Amino acid sequence: MRHLAAPAALMAGALALTACSGSGDAKADLSVSSSYMPQPVSDMAAGFLTIANEGGAKDELTSVTSDAAGSVTVHRTVGQSMEEVASLDVPAHGRLVFRSGGNHLMFENLKRRPKQGEKVTVELHFADSGPIKVEMPVKSATYTPATGH
Ligand code: CU
Repeated sequence: MRHLAAPAALMAGALALTACSGSGDAKADLSVSSSYMPQPVSDMAAGFLTIANEGGAKDELTSVTSDAAGSVTVHRTVGQSMEEVASLDVPAHGRLVFRSGGNHLMFENLKRRPKQGEKVTVELHFADSGPIKVEMPVKSATYTPATGH
């Protein structure tokens, strides 16, 4: 009987954790992955990343700032052209994906041109969640990430 105590306790712990993260107040729970900047060839650059939302409420990316550039704007691609948007939704239990040919961050008036292997710090600002700082690695100008599919 005694040796069952430990597994039972572990089970209870696991259940408590599940209950804790599964239910509760509906809030966005954001994390950022797969960020990169193709090495810029002018004083402009693009940036890509994925924002995942584990939470039960949506959030909105409202702005992006970086000390590396005079301005950072959020663009989406519509057909062959792109347009600046004021905000993009991060759906509840969903993801906001920035990728080549789709949504992207647009860095203009770069203060200097970062090289492959360096990092560019950007800060993401949201409607509800606190800001998230991202160290965006600079990849080769032609880098394309593996899709993972
Ligand atoms: Cu653009």
